[in-house]
Amino acid sequence: MRLDHTAYRVANRDEAVQFFCLAFGYSAVDEFEINFDDGTSARCIALQSPESFALSNGAKMHEGYHLAPEIFISEGDENSIVGKWVEEKGGIGGIHHMAYEVDSVEQTMKEWAEKGYAEFTTKEPLKCPGLTQCFTKPSDLTGVVYEFIERDPEAKGFCKENVKDLMESTQPRNFGPNYNEAEKKYFNHDHPGMKKEF
Ligand SMILES: [Fe+2]
Repeated sequence: MRLDHTAYRVANRDEAVQFFCLAFGYSAVDEFEINFDDGTSARCIALQSPESFALSNGAKMHEGYHLAPEIFISEGDENSIVGKWVEEKGGIGGIHHMAYEVDSVEQTMKEWAEKGYAEFTTKEPLKCPGLTQCFTKPSDLTGVVYEFIERDPEAKGFCKENVKDLMESTQPRNFGPNYNEAEKKYFNHDHPGMKKEF
């Protein structure tokens, strides 16, 4: 089985769509409304990646699928960065971040910062041999952290040093005075020790 899609539920669909189209290069392919029995409704839209292209039979294919691991799962001790995050998510956890492969992490960070698509948890990309990564702070539009990752073809899946540095970079104390509303919600400040870091 391959990862097929990621579903978001957001407060402002149109702004979120604009973000995905401008910042990631997606385009809208299908749009519909669901009317529930109780009279409420939901507006949905499907986005396709820029790598999609049509086959002669009308089906969509994707170019350049890479073979990187598509699922990465962490579990942590009670007071660890991971353990605290899981505790803040009702003790169950959830999607922490979504990683997108890019040609240049450095260039993508620069472009996103200039265009205001997101802020980052580190000033510079984190580097291991053959592997460069960075995290955004949680998006104002989706609440999700995005990772950008750049791999040399021969690089192995992940390196422990980068994973450690990335996890440490997500602690609120690293965010400084400019943390935003999404971050406040994200780290819902249940921990007095974390609160005073701001
Ligand atoms: Fe990741």
